[in-house]
Amino acid sequence: MLKVGLIGCGFMGSMHANCYNNIANAKVTAVADLRPEKAKELAAISGAEIYTTGKELIEKADVDVIDICLPTYLHAEHAILAMQKVKYVFVEKPVALTKEEGKEMMEAAAKYGANVQVGQVIRFWDEYVELAKMVESGVYGKIVNANFRRLSPVPTWGWDNWLLTIAKSGGAGQDLHVHDIDYVLSIMGKPCKFYTVKNDDNSYVSTLMQYKDAVVSVEGTWNLPTTHPFQATFRVVFEKAVIENADGKFMKYTEAGAEEIKIEKIELAGDAYKGGNVSDLGGYYNELVYFCDKAEKGEKIERATLTDAVESLNFVLDELNFQG
Ligand SMILES: NC(=O)c1ccc[n+]([C@@H]2O[C@H](COP(=O)([O-])OP(=O)(O)OC[C@H]3O[C@@H](n4cnc5c(N)ncnc54)[C@H](O)[C@@H]3O)[C@@H](O)[C@H]2O)c1
Repeated sequence: MLKVGLIGCGFMGSMHANCYNNIANAKVTAVADLRPEKAKELAAISGAEIYTTGKELIEKADVDVIDICLPTYLHAEHAILAMQKVKYVFVEKPVALTKEEGKEMMEAAAKYGANVQVGQVIRFWDEYVELAKMVESGVYGKIVNANFRRLSPVPTWGWDNWLLTIAKSGGAGQDLHVHDIDYVLSIMGKPCKFYTVKNDDNSYVSTLMQYKDAVVSVEGTWNLPTTHPFQATFRVVFEKAVIENADGKFMKYTEAGAEEIKIEKIELAGDAYKGGNVSDLGGYYNELVYFCDKAEKGEKIERATLTDAVESLNFVLDELNFQG
């Protein structure tokens, strides 16, 4: 049984705690949060001991793996300390705030022999996993064009308003849009060129990516009213079919007809948390199952690696600095 130390008991920490509660080979045995009520709430799920700061947990807790769900500007510092304590570290996305921090994390992982997985959860989300398989197998030919969108109400839930403070989160570009960029890079690699437009406060970002034989557009925003539902959609035009994930339906369109693609969902045993801007443990559960499996077996992390996440962060930072 892996002993998990969970740092940050806010929105994502809560999601992770509920995922671990459904994972047979892991148990959250220590939690840390500056807000005692948040720490207590998650500690109660598995009877974990409570620390006030992330650093205190890293220093004192007897754990096998550490999972960091802190605001982005605190990732690098805590992850590097965690790498000195345990061999398996999970860090939420975006991996860090700056290119320098990403580089320091890579150097630390090499120095301390740490295996780091980053919460680029889309790589583990069912529909996106299926799409990646279609791209890899070439079953519908090559991608001709594609569109990925991620629309969120304004994220007001963050502790100390950190999400809406660009210097702490990077805005929607780094926090939200990074999901789709990371995914596109994972299935298509880097484009030959790209063109980005955005708002000054990084609350809306739209990028056109030109590949040798394909064009991809990626749009992300979080400046919608709280009454607007969260939406993550894609439409991928292959040579022989169009695959679309929108309005809660995963569809395949060809001249022969339209057909819903069915994906078998995993039944979870514990109480799934519902809230924030996502209502499904799906990808979060899958990524942590993978992380725990690798940590238990002492194997290398090969999906959503630190290297992948740093490349995605660097690409997004280049988009945000794009001058036209
Ligand atoms: N993968 C996803 O889809 C997804 C979705 C939402 C958030 N996230 C990421 O998860 C991370 C956390 O975001 P969130 O929405 O949970 O934020 P949040 O504000 O809800 O939670 C952060 C928590 O960290 C605590 N904290 C701050 N400093 C601390 C310290 N030094 N020691 C201990 N606790 C401390 C705060 O009290 C707060 O409870 C961010 O990197 C965010 O980008 C990922």
